[in-house]
Amino acid sequence: MAIRKIVMYPNDILEKHCQEVKKFDKKLGKLLDDMYETMIEYDGVGLAAPQIGVDARVAVVDIEDETGTIEMINPLILETKGEQTGPEGCLSFPGLFGEVSRPNYVKIEAFDRKGRKYTLEAEEFLARAIQHEIDHLDGVLFTSKVLKYLSEDELKGVEAE
Ligand code: CO
Repeated sequence: MAIRKIVMYPNDILEKHCQEVKKFDKKLGKLLDDMYETMIEYDGVGLAAPQIGVDARVAVVDIEDETGTIEMINPLILETKGEQTGPEGCLSFPGLFGEVSRPNYVKIEAFDRKGRKYTLEAEEFLARAIQHEIDHLDGVLFTSKVLKYLSEDELKGVEAE
């Protein structure tokens, strides 16, 4: 595994629609391992492939709850419900945090590294992290959704995605 360099905003790769993964091979496994290691190194709760300069619909999420690490390849949102508003940050925007509203519940379909399709339901913070990462794969950045930016004082233990 290796820690990769995180792409900071502005960079074109952060604003493009990423390509579908077609090959579920060793290279994909290595990419996921590196993304996971990089996310941990930078204290993030999620990381999308474009954030390490890779044009592929791949993201990892780990909010340190009982769900563990979620690997999402070619994820699709099947359903959303409700609304939540809370602080959000992004590893590609160090030190920048803002309030973002998102659906409170999300149901997704994605593939794991072996190409097995799965569905996952999530609520609250996990749902927020998943939606933030899926947005990255469409070139959508959280800054386009911020209602209000937050100062350091207004933040308590908010982790970046
Ligand atoms: Co992000």
